[in-house]
Amino acid sequence: MTQIRGIQSIKASQPTIEGAGVRLRRAFGFREATAFDPFLLLDDFRGPDPAHYEAGFPWHPHRGIETITYMLEGQVEHGDSLGHRGVIGAGDVQWMTAGRGIIHQEMPKAGEGGRMGGFQLWANLPASHKMMPPRYREVAAAQIPRFEQGKGVECRLIAGQLGGEHGPIQDVVTAPLFVDVTVAPETSASLPIDSAMEALAYTFEGRAEMGNASSLATVVDGSIVRFGPGDVVSVRTGKVGVRFLLCAGRPLREPVSWRGPIVMNTEEELDRAFAEYRSGTFMSGPPQDAL
Ligand code: FE2
Repeated sequence: MTQIRGIQSIKASQPTIEGAGVRLRRAFGFREATAFDPFLLLDDFRGPDPAHYEAGFPWHPHRGIETITYMLEGQVEHGDSLGHRGVIGAGDVQWMTAGRGIIHQEMPKAGEGGRMGGFQLWANLPASHKMMPPRYREVAAAQIPRFEQGKGVECRLIAGQLGGEHGPIQDVVTAPLFVDVTVAPETSASLPIDSAMEALAYTFEGRAEMGNASSLATVVDGSIVRFGPGDVVSVRTGKVGVRFLLCAGRPLREPVSWRGPIVMNTEEELDRAFAEYRSGTFMSGPPQDAL
C-alpha cells in the first residue's frame, strides 16, 4: 500500500558567505552533518549581483565527498588538479568525485542581467570509497531527460530513476535521486521514491503544500523539507505553481568527521588529510591500503 511521506522538518535556507566572499543561501550543511544522510550540504547560489559572487571559489582541496552542481543561469568556470577545464551554463550539470583528493576552483560568471544561479549538493562517500581515485564529469542540459510524471508535473531527471527514466549521472557512489520538478498551478503531484531512501525537497520558485494528512507544510522559495518514511512524495499547488529540487538517497549511517572541504569518518583521517595538503602530498599520498 502506498504511504505518503510526512514532513519530518521544514526550515528556511540561511544566508552564508563561502569561498572568497560569495553570498549564498545554505539549505543545510556542517551544523546538520548527519541529518540529511547520505547528503552533507546543499547550497543555493542564485544571485542578482555579480559583486556578491564574482570572487568565486578559488583553488581549494576536497576529499571524501562527491559534489553535484546544477546550473539555472549564468556560468561556472571550473579547473582542477586532474587537468580538467570546463564551463557549465544554464541547465548543465557537473559532478565530481573528490575521493582521495582533488584541488579545484569554481568561478561564477554573470548571465543575462548580471544574474547567476544554481545549486551544489554534496553527497557523502561511504568509508569504503573515501580514498577512491578522483573523477570529474559534465552533462549538457540537452542530455537531461525532461518528461511529465502526471499531468502538469514536469521533471528534469539529473540522477537516479523516476517514472521508468534514468538520469545521465549514474556513477555517484550513493546512487542518489536528483530531480528538478516543476508543478503547474492547481495540480496534485505524486512522486514515487524508494522507501529505503531518505528524501528532501528544496523549493526555489512558487509555493505548494507537501506532506501527508498528519504532517503537512506550506513550502515557499528557500524552504528545505526533510521527509519522513514512506514511498511517495505528495505535492499540491494552488493559484501558483512550484519548482523544487527533489533529492533522495540511502543513508550511510557512518560517523562523520568534517573540517571545511574535507569530510572523513575520523578526526585522525582529517588530521592526515590536512597534513598531506600542507606537505604537498595530498594528491600523491600513501595508497589507500596504507591508511
Ligand atoms: Fe569545491
